Amino acid sequence: MSTTYDVAVIGAGPGGYVAAIRCAQLGLKTVCIDAWTDAAGKPALGGTCLNVGCIPSKALLESSEQFAHLRQGLGEHGIAVKDASLDVGRMLARKDKIVDKSTAGIAFLFRKNKVDSKAGTGRFVRTGDHCVLEVVNGKEREEITARFVIVATGSVPASLPLFPVDGERVLDNAGALSLQAPPKRLGIIGAGIIGLELGSVWRRLGSEVTLFESRENFLAMADTQVAAEAWRLFTKEQGLTIKLGARPAGMKIGKNGVGVEYQDSQGAQRFECDQLLVAAGRAPNTANINAEAVGLELDARGFIAVDDHCRTALPNVYAIGDCVRGPMLAHKASEEGLAVAERIAGQQPEVSYATIPSVIYTAPEIAWVGQTEQALKAAGTAFRKGVFRFMANGRAQALGETRGFVKVLADDRTDRILGVHMIGPRVSELLGEAVVAMEFAAAAEDLARICHAHPTLSEALHEAALAALGRPLHQ
Ligand code: FAD
Ligand code: NAI
Repeated sequence: MSTTYDVAVIGAGPGGYVAAIRCAQLGLKTVCIDAWTDAAGKPALGGTCLNVGCIPSKALLESSEQFAHLRQGLGEHGIAVKDASLDVGRMLARKDKIVDKSTAGIAFLFRKNKVDSKAGTGRFVRTGDHCVLEVVNGKEREEITARFVIVATGSVPASLPLFPVDGERVLDNAGALSLQAPPKRLGIIGAGIIGLELGSVWRRLGSEVTLFESRENFLAMADTQVAAEAWRLFTKEQGLTIKLGARPAGMKIGKNGVGVEYQDSQGAQRFECDQLLVAAGRAPNTANINAEAVGLELDARGFIAVDDHCRTALPNVYAIGDCVRGPMLAHKASEEGLAVAERIAGQQPEVSYATIPSVIYTAPEIAWVGQTEQALKAAGTAFRKGVFRFMANGRAQALGETRGFVKVLADDRTDRILGVHMIGPRVSELLGEAVVAMEFAAAAEDLARICHAHPTLSEALHEAALAALGRPLHQ
């Protein structure tokens, strides 16, 4: 027997679960199918983000930062702590509790909004006016019919054939979020966002951390001035070893660890570590939906081909989040989920791709929205920039967190804000104001004329806007 729905969503990550909730709110009979199971084999909603991504990584980043602060950050406050100790088991239990609460929260939201939730793998049987899906859960099979399908199957760690993950010596993000003790030497392939965030966690807890990055430039996606500041802080102050232009070429797993061979400008090199994290990007998770059989087009890398409104070439089939083009970010997936739900309900929403914020949760944090200085130069756009250092911000001084700066880039002719780049304390929380400003097509002058509470970190954004107008007050 087949149950008929208005909408079937495949995947309950931040793309799929948000889409499902919004569809149900709009009066559509909705089912969300998800295959994720936790360590105990129980279905767990929330996808990568809640189970092995955003949420557990931020929980461990917070715990490890508290530990680092306790050991190094309290002396200047006149506070001495003796015998600080580390219980990694308890730290992991806290993280697991946060994950469990969050995933249970999605189940609650599904019940509240009357979204049917089905555990299992969803795959296409046929498409057309009505799509037929099969849900496979162990030996059980069920057919579902839906007028619309939203594919939100997310992504998986990109695998490097020479470095197969075994969960013991060679880890992916899930393994690196569950290490029972800090490895003495942790090697990481990829100095991208996961490498830097999880490398920071284990560095703060005592590991020697070495990252191997095949590119010659550090944090290529960020503004170069921010990347240069981050490089100095991470390598000189925090003791992360980052090898640029280093291409890992093979490994040998021994009784005591992993021997990594890599090539750099000096030739062939060797490196020994206790555990190795592979964090070399992520790949779309589209192998298990039977795409080819129903003619759902995938590109060469496996992403589902969609237009600006997340429509696939198949009628009534949409795809969102990490399994389609664009940044692999939870909030981007959710925005697309909302927009698709509303489009199915007959509305005309748009996703503002130009103002999707990016954050790297290192300490200090890195956050940006809009265009980088190097991109504006390459495009030949005339712009002005205003930079304000946290060193000159009263709240940052009181917090003892004076590293970094805020940079505002504004069009030279119109003064419209084209990009905002930050490295500094809690800048993830400051970024929202910049996103709102850009969404409303604000000029630097608009930000400069808005009253900001004193003393707050947000005054650094105010000052950077003033600096872009050539009239900073406090530097
Ligand atoms: P996913 O979250 O991957 O969810 C897809 C779901 O679909 C999964 O539950 C999967 O099991 C299920 N599924 C797949 N195939 C099927 C099928 N055939 N049938 C049924 N179910 C299926 N992003 C941020 O914005 N901020 C962060 O701080 C952040 N931190 C991260 C940290 C780490 C360590 C990692 C790995 C990622 C992080 N990300 C972060 C990225 C973020 O997790 C992803 O961008 C986001 O989860 C994508 O959401 P999604 O809904 O597209 O897919
Ligand atoms: P990434 O794309 O950020 O970084 C991967 C890095 O590995 C790149 O710098 C790349 O040049 C390098 N690399 C690739 N192959 C390599 C090789 N063979 N040898 C050496 N270096 C190699 O990807 P990452 O860190 O795996 O994260 C995946 C995605 O998850 C991110 O792009 C991001 O979208 C998302 N994410 C977001 C977070 C956030 O928003 N704070 C946190 C963590 C992940």
